[in-house]
Amino acid sequence: MSIKKVMVIGAGQMGSGIAQVCAMAGYEVVLQDLKDEFLERGMNNISKNLQRQVDKGRMNDDEKARVLSNMKTSTDIQSANSVDLVIEAAVENMEIKSNIFAQLDEIAPAHAILATNTSSLPITEIAAVTNRPEKVIGMHFMNPVPVMKLVEIIRGLATTDEVYQAIEEMTKKLNKVPVEVNDFPGFVSNRILMPMINEAIYTVYEGVAEPEAIDEVMKLGMNHPMGPLTLADFIGLDTCLSIMEVLHEGFGDDKYRPCPLLRKYVKAGWLGRKTGRGFYKYD
Ligand code: CAA
Repeated sequence: MSIKKVMVIGAGQMGSGIAQVCAMAGYEVVLQDLKDEFLERGMNNISKNLQRQVDKGRMNDDEKARVLSNMKTSTDIQSANSVDLVIEAAVENMEIKSNIFAQLDEIAPAHAILATNTSSLPITEIAAVTNRPEKVIGMHFMNPVPVMKLVEIIRGLATTDEVYQAIEEMTKKLNKVPVEVNDFPGFVSNRILMPMINEAIYTVYEGVAEPEAIDEVMKLGMNHPMGPLTLADFIGLDTCLSIMEVLHEGFGDDKYRPCPLLRKYVKAGWLGRKTGRGFYKYD
């Protein structure tokens, strides 16, 4: 199973990061989104990231140009008709993802692997809308994608060893570290990370300490690069809430109940960095 050409669906923060690391590793990349303006924003981000590498002397102008020349953009999902792998990084909504995978199954060549960067939706359920569940797999990148080493690789119930190995090998070529995980709510990363973040929010809610103090405890006491509330704002509080809901519903265990303060912030539109306000205020 040789992977040469990759389509990334979704030019947001995750999709553009994934497209960037694929192009840097020499893959031919098509970045796809619904509107040209989304693609322009994604490509601008990629350009800025590459320029930072040039400014730091880690890449020269020719290498930057070569990476960009590996990339094309498209607003047409039909562009999947000539790729070996699709990595879907659209919004975290089962209906939208199911719709995309049903279309991809029709359009992509029979040999193509269909991967999703979902942070918590069941791979097996996404695979079930296709006629090739054995070729559907989770590739969960971490934010910021160009910096974070981990890719959690999630096998759906039907994913074959051959497909798993092809994706594992590709992940290594991206200069990332693959970790194999089975398909259960939140996988490993978010099953452990999100309850910690939710507990930090309960700690604010119950007046145990201010957000700054909670983050300081975890940064200085546990050597975390960011405190849990800064991290929640970075991930997006809407994403944190939806992952807690997947855990709560998926396990039916009240230990995963989302904190009421998290719900309140999301209802208020305080979604973290992207809206300028979450547990902290941003310019
Ligand atoms: N895109 C690209 N590069 C970035 C970046 C971005 N958004 N943000 C920072 N960087 C780069 C910087 O350019 C810098 O690069 P060099 O070392 O080459 O100079 C490097 O990252 C370090 O950045 P800074 O010195 O500015 O800041 P820092 O040391 O605080 O590191 C951080 C920033 C890497 C984000 C660090 O704070 C960190 O690791 N935070 C935790 C991130 C984390 O936990 N991510 C996982 C979130 S959960 C998730 O993604 C999964 C999910 O499903 C929700």
